[in-house]
Amino acid sequence: MITVKSSRELDLMRHSGRLVAEILQTVAEQARPGVTLADLDKIAESLTLENGALPAFKGYFGYGYSLCTSVNEQVVHGLPTQRALIAGDIVGLDFGVVYKGFYADSAVTIPVGTVTENAQRLLRATQDSLYAAIGAAREGNSLRDIALAIESVVLPLGYSIVREFVGHGIGQKLHEPPQIPNYSDGASTLKLRKGMTICIEPMINQFSANVKVLPDRWTAATVDGGLSAHFEHTIAITDGEAEILTEWSKLPLRRTGAPLSQRA
Ligand code: MF3
Ligand code: CO
Repeated sequence: MITVKSSRELDLMRHSGRLVAEILQTVAEQARPGVTLADLDKIAESLTLENGALPAFKGYFGYGYSLCTSVNEQVVHGLPTQRALIAGDIVGLDFGVVYKGFYADSAVTIPVGTVTENAQRLLRATQDSLYAAIGAAREGNSLRDIALAIESVVLPLGYSIVREFVGHGIGQKLHEPPQIPNYSDGASTLKLRKGMTICIEPMINQFSANVKVLPDRWTAATVDGGLSAHFEHTIAITDGEAEILTEWSKLPLRRTGAPLSQRA
């Protein structure tokens, strides 16, 4: 069932969303050459607990960590192992919390040190596609309008849209209906209503859309080895522009040169 949140419930989700944004921003600042993915997971988890929340992903279908870290050709659900980041990597950081029973979930993909122009272009386009989708997420518009907005940004650049994973409703569960596909031929004409809270999360590949799951049984990666990027926000549908509950792009600039700060 698609739930519509009361103003009290939305207030709790604002709190969860704010925590996710701040923790994600802090983790992103620490994602430098030499830092391991496990270090980042530890930072995310301790900040979550210090703030009276619980990590949303830990224990979800047996997932063992608080953070997903997807490097370069990895698409989503990468495990925060002892792998150290090196300059030139791009790393997707996907993170969620539950606070007083309400979830929020967000992701960014950021450059580590200096990355190629091709990588920067992919990050920029994927982030732009998320914000275009949020712009289309208005009461009375449909799920298809969200997908069309993503397509309009990334397809002209020759990128492809991952089909195996989609966005989702969110609230008292991490994943609620409806599913929010990032491609229009999979998206329905279901109309958005004020009070719906959803996660929009485009996953965009440099080359082909095909993905495979690695032997660790979690990490999804491109089949052709091309780069992949992922950005996600939790938003609330209003009678005007959607409210971004996990907005990190307006937080104080703490990481010069990264996509996080370029937008503000
Ligand atoms: N942001 C991802 C999602 O919305 C996080 C889920 S990963 C898992 O599906 F580890 F929790 F499964
Ligand atoms: Co999500």
